Amino acid sequence: MRHLLSTDGLDPATALAILDTADGLKRTLLGREVRKLPTLRGRTVITMFYENSTRTRVSFEIAGKWMSADVVNVSAGGSSVSKGESLRDTALTLAAAGADCVIVRHPASGAAHRIAGWLAAAGTSVVNAGDGTHEHPTQALLDAATLRDRLGRIDGRRVAIVGDVLHSRVARSNVHLLTSLGAEVVLVAPPTLLPVGVADWPVGAAGSLRVSHELDPELPTLDAVMMLRVQAERMHGGFFPSAREYAIAYGLGEARARMLPKHAVVLHPGPMLRGMEIAAAVADSPRAAITDQVANGVHVRMAVLYHLLAGEEDNS
Ligand code: CP
Repeated sequence: MRHLLSTDGLDPATALAILDTADGLKRTLLGREVRKLPTLRGRTVITMFYENSTRTRVSFEIAGKWMSADVVNVSAGGSSVSKGESLRDTALTLAAAGADCVIVRHPASGAAHRIAGWLAAAGTSVVNAGDGTHEHPTQALLDAATLRDRLGRIDGRRVAIVGDVLHSRVARSNVHLLTSLGAEVVLVAPPTLLPVGVADWPVGAAGSLRVSHELDPELPTLDAVMMLRVQAERMHGGFFPSAREYAIAYGLGEARARMLPKHAVVLHPGPMLRGMEIAAAVADSPRAAITDQVANGVHVRMAVLYHLLAGEEDNS
């Protein structure tokens, strides 16, 4: 694997290999006082974030450090981007400075793909840490790792992805990955928060995708429910429906959570809008795997760096 840009087209065998590596790393580090492996000693990883982040950025930095890579963090505001430097020139500069891997978050869909093209000759790997409303592949991988932990398997499991699908890169990456691993995915959202053509999104042959506007009838049938963040920063024309209408129709309150089967897991990629997307009592309940998702994020991102920079596959 040379880059990780999307889960659309990610071979299920490669995805499972990453999940297995993450699981192995987690077991290796469990209970250790010093969580440091020598695997990526001498390698340089640069995170380049043009949008804010807590989970993705911190977990990539920890992942690199636990693998002994040299990790450098660059933000758009603190770099020459603020002086007008282009994305291409910034990417070429980071590669020329010695980056073996550039991890990029950008508000424009397709930015990571463009960077991978520009860095083809440099041999630098690129990881998409979220591009606009397009994809967030490592989020989907850590969600899959969490579902495997909690449910034992993904194949045949029924997963609802609920809320602001229109602006969600998490939803798109999860649809591709979870269906390719055999899950039955249902997207639940009001018509105003669904992208045009969503029913035609590429779906893995092993799974299935359907769309619903009603959450309540889905709940008793689910193995997992993934609540999405409402992305107000991408709603330039205002938020529709209102926050109150959204919470009433789609928020995962305590009464709704009681409609789920006992074994069903609650996920949220974060950051959460408690009280609107999800009740605090549900987010903090034992069935919620939200902090597990964050912890798995470190191991999954270690595994991604391993497969990109230390794996034995053909990197051509
Ligand atoms: N889930 C996620 O991408 O969170 P951050 O924006 O905090 O990285």
